[in-house]
Amino acid sequence: MKAKVIKNIQINDKYGYMVIESKELCASSEAGKFFMVSPRLNNETNSDPLINRAFAIADIFDDDTILFIYQIVGRVTSMLTTVQEGDYLNVVGALGKRFTICESKNVALVAGGAGIAPMIILGKKLRSNGNKVTLFYGGASKKDIIPTEILSTSYDNLEIATFDGSLGLKGLVTKLLLASSEKFDNVYTCGPTGMLSAVVKAVSSIDENIDIEVSMEAKMGCGVGACLGCLIPTIDKDGTVVNRRCCVEGPIFDGKTISFERLV
Ligand SMILES: Cc1cc2nc3c(=O)[nH]c(=O)nc-3n(C[C@H](O)[C@H](O)[C@H](O)COP(=O)(O)OP(=O)(O)OC[C@H]3O[C@@H](n4cnc5c(N)ncnc54)[C@H](O)[C@@H]3O)c2cc1C
Ligand code: FES
Repeated sequence: MKAKVIKNIQINDKYGYMVIESKELCASSEAGKFFMVSPRLNNETNSDPLINRAFAIADIFDDDTILFIYQIVGRVTSMLTTVQEGDYLNVVGALGKRFTICESKNVALVAGGAGIAPMIILGKKLRSNGNKVTLFYGGASKKDIIPTEILSTSYDNLEIATFDGSLGLKGLVTKLLLASSEKFDNVYTCGPTGMLSAVVKAVSSIDENIDIEVSMEAKMGCGVGACLGCLIPTIDKDGTVVNRRCCVEGPIFDGKTISFERLV
């Protein structure tokens, strides 16, 4: 389906965000789901499936526009920087599973880099469901922390860490989580795989009973379960390792079921 580009803003040389219009995409969008985007539709009719890339739904406005955030890392995300307002993108979605929305709990969101994207809509949804939300947000440096106005009303408390100390606490985002005096019931996390693994370990060291959902990243080909390019090793209750498709069974998983050792 086509989505009209309403806004495409370059935050800095590493990040940009876009607002696109599609009632159809909005109708199926929920916190945790993603969509595949191809940046060069406009007047071109031939399709190049190799350039479809996954992006998380970051926010929805008025049931017809969607925010997504892109970290410029390669071919397609560089192409996204050249897209103009009024252009059309080719989008497929919304895809995948959503986060579980708990109620009246003390919740931590832990985001790293582009992993902030799904935390925005998730934080808003959790707050509207009576949860208290603390957002722990980390990046390599202050360029990796997007302006707080884009985060909207997604948190009650915000704590920032950067690896080089250029903004917030110097160090990893897990340092913030481990130092917090709050007693969290639920944790949700999204970011690079190494960070997700560290967050799951940190949470279980705090209290094994804390529920933790992770939004996993995998290189996606089709996005709809057909190519098996996005398998994530998970461990069932009986100890069996089962590969699950990130695009269909995920990207949201129970963090305690991911076999991070098998991912590296
Ligand atoms: C469910 C899901 C949701 C995502 N949401 C977002 C989002 O909201 N914002 C955002 O900026 N990115 C998001 N990503 C990652 C995004 O899809 C990739 O960064 C993008 O595909 C890179 O495309 P590219 O052509 O610019 O880079 P490429 O030229 O394809 O790759 C550049 C570099 O990035 C690495 N890379 C590519 N894809 C991935 C990936 N999926 N995971 C880890 N490394 C990768 C490559 O190995 C290479 O080193 C998401 C990925 C998934 C699976
Ligand atoms: S991306 Fe093709 S099966 Fe998941």
